[in-house]
Amino acid sequence: MDVLVIGGGGREHAIVWAFKKSPKVNKIYALPGNAGIEEIAECENISVMDFENILKFLEAHKNIDLVFVAPDDPLAGGLVDFLEDKGYRVFGPRKNAAIIEGSKSFAKKLMKKYGIPTASYEEFTDYEKALSYVEKQKCPIVIKADGLALGKGVIIAENIDEAKQALYDMMVNETFKEAGKKVIIEEFLKGKEVTVLSFCDGKTIIPMVSSQDHKRAYDNDEGLNTGGMGTFSPSQCYTKQMEDYVYNNIMLKTVDAMNKEGRTFKGVLYFGLMITDDGVKVLEYNARFGDPETQVILPRLDSDFTDIVLSVIEGKLDKADIRWKKESAVCVILASGGYPKNYKKGFEIKIGDIDKDILLFHAGTKKGEGGKLLTNGGRVIGVTALGSNIDEARKKAYKNIEKIYFENMHFRKDIGIKL
Ligand code: AMP
Ligand code: GLY
Repeated sequence: MDVLVIGGGGREHAIVWAFKKSPKVNKIYALPGNAGIEEIAECENISVMDFENILKFLEAHKNIDLVFVAPDDPLAGGLVDFLEDKGYRVFGPRKNAAIIEGSKSFAKKLMKKYGIPTASYEEFTDYEKALSYVEKQKCPIVIKADGLALGKGVIIAENIDEAKQALYDMMVNETFKEAGKKVIIEEFLKGKEVTVLSFCDGKTIIPMVSSQDHKRAYDNDEGLNTGGMGTFSPSQCYTKQMEDYVYNNIMLKTVDAMNKEGRTFKGVLYFGLMITDDGVKVLEYNARFGDPETQVILPRLDSDFTDIVLSVIEGKLDKADIRWKKESAVCVILASGGYPKNYKKGFEIKIGDIDKDILLFHAGTKKGEGGKLLTNGGRVIGVTALGSNIDEARKKAYKNIEKIYFENMHFRKDIGIKL
């Protein structure tokens, strides 16, 4: 079968790579893709939000029988509905279910109503009311823009002045436009963060192997929050007991809650969890594969990816064969110097003799004149290695990074060290 993947980051490269391994898949297309995806799929520079041109692309490629929508924006914007309603077979939640990520206010209300453990919170649309509430709270306190804000809409305020500034930026300055007109002010949770992705067909939910993301830009968790500077799988602190608790008290409850609300969720449901002294709590839901979590999860998958994707779409996930490799995986992100703030693009990327078992998942890359590989974004390449344990995988990843160079290349040296 021929497959179209919507998106063009490291996550999408990993998804295209997983489809490529499947004996069922013939040709793969990606919109817009990137220089790495281009090596294994046909790409065209159509934006993930340009629904009309995505449809035209499908009409011009009648051989495509499966569309996989990977990023948050088109999911929240209803691309799945748009294409399904035209008769296409699409993987991803419809708009009314993708809201579980698209509106933090929706997600918090859902958890409160159905007794799913999460941080306590209040929500505000009135700046003055938010301000007077926050003045009475203890710090640190968490201020969140309601809508999608490219992963930047969460501020952990260490003191009241920072909290007030965050409210001003979101509600008065409208830094995140519409996304910040409503804010959530949330209790700060202390603990270790674990990500557990799951496949969900609306009835059955099956967790994938766990992972942990390093979100801050610099070593020792210093610097600004980024989209993710590296990941490893499995998490070293997520016990079997926690797994059972999360499955029964968070995952099943969420599927049931979404059904009761008339918002059946089909796709990948992402659980951002905090392991606190008071038990495991939900930090956030995402309606999709995480980036860069996917770059360590899919390489550990030991079953056919296409079969699982089809079983989700067909509502037959209970019959799916989902097995995982015993090996651990580490992914280190090579970023442009300056990311997540301003950075320059267009530097040539030189890649030496990389070990055969290393996976390079491209994010912000493009082909320049004469086929030169150029940087084209904040996160540039994810270097993934598998090993018999995290330590071995990490050493393999870092050894190979020595063979990759571009001007101002920045990466964390401690991915998979502080477990
Ligand atoms: P979110 O987009 O809600 O996952 O928030 C982004 C990041 O902010 C999370 O991965 C956490 O590191 C942090 N965060 C969010 N909410 C809280 C909270 N209530 N307490 C502590 N940290 C949080
Ligand atoms: N790595 C976090 C995310 O994909 O949202």
